[in-house]
Amino acid sequence: MAGARGRADAVRARARGLTPATDTTPIDPVPTGVVPRRDGDPDRGGVLGDGDPDRGGALGGGGSVQGRRPGDGDPRLRARLDARAADGLLRTLRTVDGPTGPRATVDGREVLLLCGNDYLGLAGHPDVRAGAADAAHAYGGGSGSSRLVAGTLAIHLELERELAALEGADAALLFGAGYLANVGVVTALAERGGVVASDALNHASIIDGVRLSGAERVIYRHGDWEHLDHELAARSGTSRPPALVVTDGVFSMDGDVAPLAELVAVCRRHGARLVVDEAHATGCVGPGGRGSVAAAGLEGEVDAIVGTLGKALGSSGAYVAAHRDVRDWLVNRARPLIFSTAPAPAAAGAALAALAILAREPDRVDRVRRNAEIVRRGLRDAGVDLAAPGIDPSRMDPAAPIVPVVVGPADATMAITESLLRDGVYLQGIRPPTVAPGTCRLRLTVSSEHDPDELRAATHRIATALADDRRDRTT
Ligand SMILES: Cc1ncc(COP(=O)(O)O)c(C=O)c1O
Repeated sequence: MAGARGRADAVRARARGLTPATDTTPIDPVPTGVVPRRDGDPDRGGVLGDGDPDRGGALGGGGSVQGRRPGDGDPRLRARLDARAADGLLRTLRTVDGPTGPRATVDGREVLLLCGNDYLGLAGHPDVRAGAADAAHAYGGGSGSSRLVAGTLAIHLELERELAALEGADAALLFGAGYLANVGVVTALAERGGVVASDALNHASIIDGVRLSGAERVIYRHGDWEHLDHELAARSGTSRPPALVVTDGVFSMDGDVAPLAELVAVCRRHGARLVVDEAHATGCVGPGGRGSVAAAGLEGEVDAIVGTLGKALGSSGAYVAAHRDVRDWLVNRARPLIFSTAPAPAAAGAALAALAILAREPDRVDRVRRNAEIVRRGLRDAGVDLAAPGIDPSRMDPAAPIVPVVVGPADATMAITESLLRDGVYLQGIRPPTVAPGTCRLRLTVSSEHDPDELRAATHRIATALADDRRDRTT
């Protein structure tokens, strides 16, 4: 035993001897920002540019770490984290103790939560908790394997039937998360030798699917269907497979809606497929909260709708609603479905209970709209400019539960977040690479369960914090 330990020590000592001590290991210059958005550049995919410190760039470049013992830490990464902190870009995790909801305990303090996606207040609803518990009792804690092996449970199929009915679709297919659903649907439907076209402000999960797809990438200007039309026309040809166009329905950081009718027409003209990610529309936008596609009267006109269970439906996981042809193709080709364990039974049980509540309490959808309007009106009345750069105000859907307030610099945004948190209002600041540099923002979200008076008081407090910040920066 002692001999073995001795040998291990000798190996470590030899390894250490190969390079200077870890604290003097040369560190690459740290990237001090992100590659700016370059709409239309197929290699950028929105704001997540290559070379961004959050992407592969964090581990790239020179700076030897030879002989470093992982258990002693990673000075190279630590230095980069320090540099992110100096730039106001460090991300850390806060702890929520207890269920999420309109109020929550964050880092030990009770706050008004204005940055969650539990838009209908269902995550902590007693029926949803009971749905999760009953499913766990009936089916166990996990599903045991991937959908194609032995992981497709009766409760998954029951939920898929309900979700297809909600979306007015032929069929639905569950995924472990919205991230996985987007990566799965985009990689499965984009064809090699063809084109995949993505809105410049699409969610990171779509961007990652586009990158993995192997198809030719086109990033069209945000909401600009004429640009898309032009790009597809420039790449048309009878021998090419159908193009794939992907868009958020409600954009996650801006709260505006995609020009769906125009996108459908463009896709028709070019024989392209269209996928709409309804992550922030389901439960909030459209008749009965059935999403932006339903709001535009376009059911049956898009090839696939991606919806999440982890936002308005108070659970976790996601689904693709589509024709059975598409569903069967995804079962055969969507790698995040094929190579990942099926969603936990409790998640399916919770989502089934949430769907039942959505059907019997449609006033929740009305309340989330009303609350979003209270916040928008309160901020506007207090002189806050709600226009976000590059966003067409006519595309702001009053039903969308997302109200972005652009501050600009990262450090000012985070200072406002901290000051509001001290006052019991929790709003997470959003920084690059999630949004473009210089457009850091407070992304306010409301739920149907927020108390209107509390929202009015909070908007007043937010407007004051914004005014203080503007004054500090101009004096
Ligand atoms: C537009 C959009 N699509 C997809 C996702 C991913 O969904 P999930 O959290 O279920 O992975 C998100 C998550 O924030 C989102 O905002």
